[in-house]
Parts: sequence; structure tokens; C-alpha cells
Amino acid sequence: MPKSIIAGIGMYVPENIVTNNDLTKYMDTSDEWIQERTGIKERRYAHRTNETTTTMAVEASKIAIERAGITAQDVDFIVFATLSPDYYFPGCGVLLQRAMKMKEIGALDVRNQCSGFVYALSVADQFIKTGMYKNILVVGAEKHSFGLDFSTRGRNVSVIFGDGAGAVVLQSTEDNNRGILSTHLHSDGESAEILAMYNPGTHANYWANKNYATFNDAEISDMFMSHAMIDNAQNFPFMDGPHVFKKAIVKFPEVIKEALEKNNFSSKDISVLIPHQANLRIAQFVQQKLELKDEQVYNNIQHYGNTTAASVPIALCEAWEKGKIKQGDLVCLAAFGSGFTWASALLKW
Ligand code: UT7
Repeated sequence: MPKSIIAGIGMYVPENIVTNNDLTKYMDTSDEWIQERTGIKERRYAHRTNETTTTMAVEASKIAIERAGITAQDVDFIVFATLSPDYYFPGCGVLLQRAMKMKEIGALDVRNQCSGFVYALSVADQFIKTGMYKNILVVGAEKHSFGLDFSTRGRNVSVIFGDGAGAVVLQSTEDNNRGILSTHLHSDGESAEILAMYNPGTHANYWANKNYATFNDAEISDMFMSHAMIDNAQNFPFMDGPHVFKKAIVKFPEVIKEALEKNNFSSKDISVLIPHQANLRIAQFVQQKLELKDEQVYNNIQHYGNTTAASVPIALCEAWEKGKIKQGDLVCLAAFGSGFTWASALLKW
């Protein structure tokens, strides 16, 4: 059976660096609070009009494709993970196909938020294993800066997120000593509204009646998106941070251990763990729980913030570019986020 290797990897982050102090111009926050609670020093924001989630994905994809030694014409399939698409529909996959002048290949969008890239990688891995495709472009990209509440009301969410894109070419190989060993996907929708963007959507208060997201009659109408929703800032993401934090520190170690046990490894065998860059405190907790040394974990949230679906491929790319990942290394990718969904992938580089 063929296996999947990451044959090429690329990343793109916008030029515009936004420091914590820059954010204090818009909301009541401080560099001290943000660094202490999240580890973030700065993040990148895309150009308001000249950059989109897809254009950033194109830049990352060009690098991944070139490093894989193929051309855009050789790509057989696209799997695109994002929660901040250019359009509500169609998805970013087709926009990427068009922008890169690819053949009329399939393009699939994955909506699994922070776990999106690991889910996308797992989907692509199945297509390679069955022999259906040889070169799959797997992308995670986000333009969060366009959809955040920059008033004090939205500060618990807005200070965390940043923009960027990462991409890999997943390629078929017959080499049994390399590639993706296994992927592990999970979800628990019980707390779906804890980290969510409710609108635009078709819920029309259905879930509110079941004591989940609550909107009063003035706020909700049978319209897809009402004026009242916008007036009440219900077009922005909602997050109960402490609730997410508590679940994340349980599920991250769990899903990493699951991947290790499945392949008869222990945490000391990990060469590099790339955790989704949600919060430096979460990554440090996971490191401690798994008794990993500093050199076994790669974090870069300090400079990019939380880029959701883009965070794992950006961190993986940067770690590889810095020479921290070499052929034969055991690399573990892990993510947790909205849904809740969580996932891991274990691979021999
Ligand atoms: O990647 C997707 C998954 N998301 C996550 O994994 C996020 C997980 N959660 C977290 O990272 C943390 O919960 C946050 C960083 C979001 C928040 O940190 P926290 O230590 O859990 O703070 P908190 O929400 O409990 O808020 C503590 C205080 C509150 O004030 P009071 O009620 O104690 O007076 C907040 O209003 O901090 C206040 N606060 C802020 N203060 C300054 C919230 N946001 C800010 C802010 N600046 N940006």
C-alpha cells in the first residue's frame, strides 16, 4: 500500500506586524496581560483589500509545490482548511485552483477550525493510501483580522488571532520507512457553542431554544443575518476561553498518546511535537504532562498569534526551515479547537 510523505512545505505570513501595544489603541488591554495569558508578543494582519485567505494560501502553496519538485499542473487534488473563507460559499479550494491555473481537479474545503489542517492531512492521506491520487495540496489559511471585534467587548478573542497560511504537498511513496504512520480524529459537539461564530447561519434560534446560544426576539429574525445581529455584534466569534482551555489541556495529551501508542512509541521518541498554536500556556502544559524536553516542542505563537487552521503548517514549515526537523525524525502534529474537534498525526519525516 502506498504511504504519504510531505514532499514540500511552504508558509506565508503578511508583512504587517501588529504588536500587543498596537492593539491598546483600539481596546482596553495591555502587552503584559496578553503575554502573561497567551505568550503572544505580536501577530500579522493581512492587507485589508489586497490579500485574502486564498491569496495567502497561493503564496504558501507556490513554495510547497516548488520544494516538492513538481508544478501546479501535477497537483491531483486540493484539501483546503479554513474558518475564514473569502466567500461563505464557494469554498477557498476552488479559488485556489483558479488562482494557480490548475487542471480541473477536485477541491475540498474542510471546516474543522483549529484542527482543520490535521483533519485535512488525514483526508488527503486516505486518498494517497488507496492509490487514488499521487500529489495532494493540503492547505491551512486564515484571514482572521477581517472578522474580529476590535472593541474592548471582543478583546478576549481578538488579541489571540493572527493571519497567515501554510501548505504541504502530500505525495505518494512506496518507501516504507517514511511518511504518515497514522492520524487520529475526534469530536464532541456537546460544547459546540462555547467557541463559535453563530452568524450568518440557518439556526434561526433553534439551538437557543435548547438553551445553547441565546438571542432575544429583537436580535433574531428568520433572516440569514439581520440588522439587529450586526448591531449587537453577533457577527463576531464567541469564545468562553477558560472552558476551552480546560478541555484543551486534557484532549491534547490524550490524542498525542493515542498516536504514540498506536505505533508503539512513547513520548521520549518524539523528535518534534508541533502543537496547534492556541496559547503558549496550553503548549507548555502539554509539554509538562508528556515530560517532553524544550527541544522536542516547537512553538511560534509569540510571533504569529493563533492562526487556527494555518498554525500547524506554519509552525511545521518554520521548524523545518530552521533545521529542527530532519529526515528520519518522528514528528507529531496535534490540534484542538472549536467543535470541539481534536486530532493528531504521527509521521516519519
Ligand atoms: O485555538 C482555538 C482554541 N482556543 C483556545 O485554545 C483558547 C483557550 N483559552 C485561552 O487561551 C484563555 O482562556 C484566554 C487567553 C482566552 C483568556 O485567558 P484567561 O486567563 O482564561 O482569562 P479569563 O478569560 O478568565 O479573563 C480574566 C480577566 C477577565 O476580567 P475579570 O472578569 O477578571 O475582571 C477578562 O475580562 O481578564 C479580562 N480580559 C482581558 N484583560 C485584558 C479578557 N481579555 C482581556 C484582554 N486584555 N485582552
